This record gives sequence, C-alpha cells and structure tokens, in this order.
Amino acid sequence: MIEFKQVGKYFNGKPAIEHLDLNIAKGEFTVLIGTSGSGKSTTLKMINRLIEHDQGKILFAGEEIHNFKPEELRRRMGYAIQSIGLFPHWTVEKNIATVPQLLKWPRAKIRDRVTELLELLHLDAEQFRHRFPHQLSGGQQQRVGVARALAANPDVLLMDEPFGALDPVTRASMQAEIVRIHRLSGRTLVLVTHDIDEALTLADRIILLDNGKVVQQGTPQQMLLQPATPFVRAFFGQDDIGIRLLGLGTAGSHARPGEQLPGIAVAASLSLREALSIFIARQAEQLPVAGEDGKVVGVLHFRDLIKPVKGEG
Ligand SMILES: Nc1ncnc2c1ncn2[C@@H]1O[C@H](COP(=O)(O)OP(=O)(O)O)[C@@H](O)[C@H]1O
Ligand SMILES: [Mg+2]
Repeated sequence: MIEFKQVGKYFNGKPAIEHLDLNIAKGEFTVLIGTSGSGKSTTLKMINRLIEHDQGKILFAGEEIHNFKPEELRRRMGYAIQSIGLFPHWTVEKNIATVPQLLKWPRAKIRDRVTELLELLHLDAEQFRHRFPHQLSGGQQQRVGVARALAANPDVLLMDEPFGALDPVTRASMQAEIVRIHRLSGRTLVLVTHDIDEALTLADRIILLDNGKVVQQGTPQQMLLQPATPFVRAFFGQDDIGIRLLGLGTAGSHARPGEQLPGIAVAASLSLREALSIFIARQAEQLPVAGEDGKVVGVLHFRDLIKPVKGEG
C-alpha cells in the first residue's frame, strides 16, 4: 500500500531521514516508534506530502506519490495529530466535514456522515455537532480530530501521537476505539508514538527508527523476543520484557476452554498483565474467565501465563 525506497530527507543540509526502506501492507496497523528526533513525524508527513522527500521513491498503491494531486492524497489519507488542529471558530460538524466539503459532497450526505462518525467515537451527535472546540474536553477534541481524519472514508489513516495529550484512562479508551475502528474497516493505519506500551498494544507491526534509519521492524513479539541489536533490547526495556509479553496475550487466549470454576470471573479481553495482578491480589492460582455475555467460557491457570502468546517465536 505504501512503499519507501531509499528515501532521504534533509533539513538545512542535515539528514533527518536516510536510505529509508519501508513497506506498509494494505489493512495493516503499523506503528512507527523511536526516541524524540528519530524522524517519525518526518516519515509520516512524507507519506501525504506535507513534507516532500529529497531522495528515493515513495509509492502509494503502486504509484509514485508525485503522480497524485494533493487533493486526492488528502481524500485518500486521513491525518490526525496530537495538537488536534481543530479550527477554533468552526463547529464540530464543520470541522469533521472539512474534507467532504472540499469534495463538494451534498449537504445531507455530509450531515449523515458527521452523525455516523460522532456515534462511532461515542459522542452524542445532537449534543456535540453544534459545539465549538473550546466547549469540549481535551479527550473529546481528540475524538473529533480522529472523526475528521476518517470523514471521507480514507484508505489510509495517518496519526501522529494522536493520544499524546490524554490522561491514561481516556488514552486507553481511545486506543481501544482505534483498534475497533481498524477491525471494522480493515483500513491501513500508520501511527507514530514514542510510547512502548502503546506500540505493543496497537501494532500488527512495529518499525523502530533511530537517527532517521530503521533499526528493526517486526511484530510486537519479535521486537521483544528477537531484538536485532542491544539498542533494540534496551529500547523495549530489558527488565520489563516479561511483563510486556504478558500485555500481548489475553485471559481468553490462555484460558482452558470448557473448564468451570465458581467465583468472580474476569473478562476474556483482560490482558495477561492485568490477570497477573488479579492472581496476586486474590492469592489465587485459577481464575474463571467470562465472555461478553458474562458466561464462564474457561479457566485461566496461573502456570499457563508462561505459555507463548499467539504469533510468538
Ligand atoms: N522543519 C524542520 N526544519 C529543520 N529541521 C527539522 C524540521 N523538521 C524536523 N527537523 C529535524 O529532523 C529530525 C527528525 O525530526 P522529527 O521527524 O520531527 O522527529 P520525531 O517525530 O521522531 O521526534 C530532527 O532532528 C528534527 O530536528
Ligand atoms: Mg514527532
């Protein structure tokens, strides 16, 4: 879907990105991670030509991005950023409708789309559509920013630290929302973050950048279990690797199906990391696991925590 071939970008003669090769598959959730100044935002902005690259080739759907009109790129790639960038004197509705209006969609279609997006992001449409950005909380503003990026049904969603300014609870709920949207739509997502746990939770594939170069790319499991260099190992936190691996599995994925046990059940969607905490708190060695309907679907055994998570190895 998106391909970089030996891409380079210079600012004032200094390289920000050098010899960058990337391949982002259609429908994949890719996370770009790295320390501050490693070139994450520059890489993302080169995809939608907010920044023009100096060397190499960038292909979108098999064609060089220079062959697309900027409007077409904007329509096909939604873009959401940490600072949100909502227009302060426009209502929520008008903000979300930015690209559909550029594309001259009929009014009724725009209205319906805004309603649909607000509901998708759990904002009451009638309550919020006529408000101005300053009448929203930070978390609600970021939701509107994501809704705006999704408005014209883009093939690709580019997000630069979109949850950076949020408190941990709102952040977790936005992350869950993005995962849900990704599952529903099968859209190609590229997200920039410097937050390791966010990358591990969200990504199908992680690309670790350092000094404008790819150090390693792979699944979250590969990054944790097969670090290519000492830098990668240190970046993902040598001492926290076990706990982070637990974060990749769920109670549902590790429960012994069909077993029953009385007691308060944990949700199948609970991460093994949280399950570990509950094992310790309850001083239990087994936990009943329930599906969304509350029915026990199996039992999670403490000793099964060390079994590999899906896709590991
Ligand atoms: N507009 C710019 N002018 C000059 N230097 C820039 C500009 N944008 C980014 N850089 C430099 O390019 C490098 C990569 O920046 P950036 O892509 O923003 O990193 P990240 O998003 O990973 O923090 C940094 O050294 C930064 O200072
Ligand atoms: Mg950045």
